[in-house]
Amino acid sequence: MSQRKIVIEPDPILRKKSKTLETVDDELRKLLDDMLETMYAAPGIGLAAVQVGVLKRLIVIDISKDKEKKNPLFLINPEIISRSKKTSIYEEGCLSLPGHYAEIERPAECQIKFVDYNGKEKELKADGLLSTCIQHEVDHLNGVLFIDYLSKLKRSMIIKKLSKQKTNTAIL
Ligand code: NI
Repeated sequence: MSQRKIVIEPDPILRKKSKTLETVDDELRKLLDDMLETMYAAPGIGLAAVQVGVLKRLIVIDISKDKEKKNPLFLINPEIISRSKKTSIYEEGCLSLPGHYAEIERPAECQIKFVDYNGKEKELKADGLLSTCIQHEVDHLNGVLFIDYLSKLKRSMIIKKLSKQKTNTAIL
């Protein structure tokens, strides 16, 4: 396994739509392993392939709080098949928007179908933090970031700040 570089907003790749996978092979599993290692090192609880510059519909998630008992979830071609009317609000952050957080309202529960690490089709019903995390990551696969749910003004302020951070890093 090796760590990959995380893409930071406003990199245009974050706005692109990721492509559906046709097969699950060792090369793909290697990418998933790298994504997981990158996510743990960041640290974060979810990461989409586009965030390491790969436009494939792949997500890794681990919301377990206990660092000793890792519980990774690999989602290949995830598709949300139902969402609850009931909503919940979580303060969200994103590895591609370092230092920025906002309260986002989303459907409290969702059901997904996906292909797992071994290439098997599965379904999963999620609530709580896992539901929010899945929806946040599936948004990434469609070029959507959590700041898109904020007002235009708030969004542009965050992007401006991130652009400046990038410039400062280049000077150093
Ligand atoms: Ni994110």
